[in-house]
Amino acid sequence: MLILGYDDVRQALEGRELDVLAAVRTAYLRHERGSTAVPHSVFLRFPEDERNRIIALPAYLGGEQPVAGVKWISSFPGNLQLGLERASAAIILNSMRTGRPEALLEGSVISARRTAAGAALAAATLRAQIPDTGVSLIGCGVINRQVLRFLRAALPQLETVTLFDLDGDRAAAFARRCAEEEPELKTGIADRVEEALGAHPLVCLATTAAVPHLGTEHCRPGGLVLHLSLRDLLPQAVLGAVNVVDDADHVCRAATSLHLAEQQVGHREFIAGTLGGILAQDRPYQRDGRRVTVFSPFGLGILDLAVADLVRRAAEAGGHGTSVAGFLAGGAG
Ligand SMILES: NC(=O)c1ccc[n+]([C@@H]2O[C@H](COP(=O)([O-])OP(=O)(O)OC[C@H]3O[C@@H](n4cnc5c(N)ncnc54)[C@H](O)[C@@H]3O)[C@@H](O)[C@H]2O)c1
Repeated sequence: MLILGYDDVRQALEGRELDVLAAVRTAYLRHERGSTAVPHSVFLRFPEDERNRIIALPAYLGGEQPVAGVKWISSFPGNLQLGLERASAAIILNSMRTGRPEALLEGSVISARRTAAGAALAAATLRAQIPDTGVSLIGCGVINRQVLRFLRAALPQLETVTLFDLDGDRAAAFARRCAEEEPELKTGIADRVEEALGAHPLVCLATTAAVPHLGTEHCRPGGLVLHLSLRDLLPQAVLGAVNVVDDADHVCRAATSLHLAEQQVGHREFIAGTLGGILAQDRPYQRDGRRVTVFSPFGLGILDLAVADLVRRAAEAGGHGTSVAGFLAGGAG
């Protein structure tokens, strides 16, 4: 059994944004072509506790070197007050020859980067007539930090960032980090969420809102909202938008804004298509110039597997990680 901790994973992914984007793109295409298996995620919740949860995402990603495994990811928002990140995770990769678990990886870094890579891929694929040069990041946490990193790789013309967070200290800390690490970007903080929504056609929502609270009336016509947190937009806003998802069966669950919209109208016809479907077309996609396009990815376990496999290969090639002999019955590894 190979164990790859936080530092091993970070090291393996250092400077590899384009490889992660490519791995995520391939995973979406394989999903579109039917060479994946993605059972519904299991949400473990606790009695009299609406805040915390742990989710299991089992998946199989086919291809020349197929991968199977599971991500077990917890969300404890109160961790922020303890100085810890909200989310923590472990990923297990299984052998497709014997089924045996072969690798255990720290999962929060992989999870954040695959989410951000999916968002950046959507921004690069669902193109505007005039290329996006600015982005509004609503929710200044771990995910939007990675989104900025991957947007810069996918949209090199990006030059302006507008931040908003309910917690002003989080927005200020994010802005300070941008100034240190990306001094060439022009970064500002919006006083109100409406200001952030209207600042740029490209908006990324990564908050921890549990109940929808935002319309799109302040967004620019023809804009793109990357709706990663899945529960910010009011069902009415979803119904008025061009909706692109990763997988309709997955995203219309667990009281997401799309699930609530489906419950309201009794169908899913408001979903225009999937990112995988658009990637599989050979012609470039152009956003509707008058309406708002919303990309809502449930976050499929195949993306975690794709990036975890990349990490495992890099670690094996570099001799990183800890190999635990005798973990499994009947022999080495
Ligand atoms: N779709 C996916 O694949 C996927 C994957 C990973 C995470 N997520 C989601 O992304 C979200 C962000 O995750 P994170 O790890 O960055 O969390 P985080 O706790 O690090 O940051 C969230 C930030 O949002 C802010 N916030 C909360 N409510 C807000 C509101 N109404 N308006 C503005 N800001 C608000 C908080 O103050 C906090 O700074 C979570 O909801 C998580 O479930 C989605």
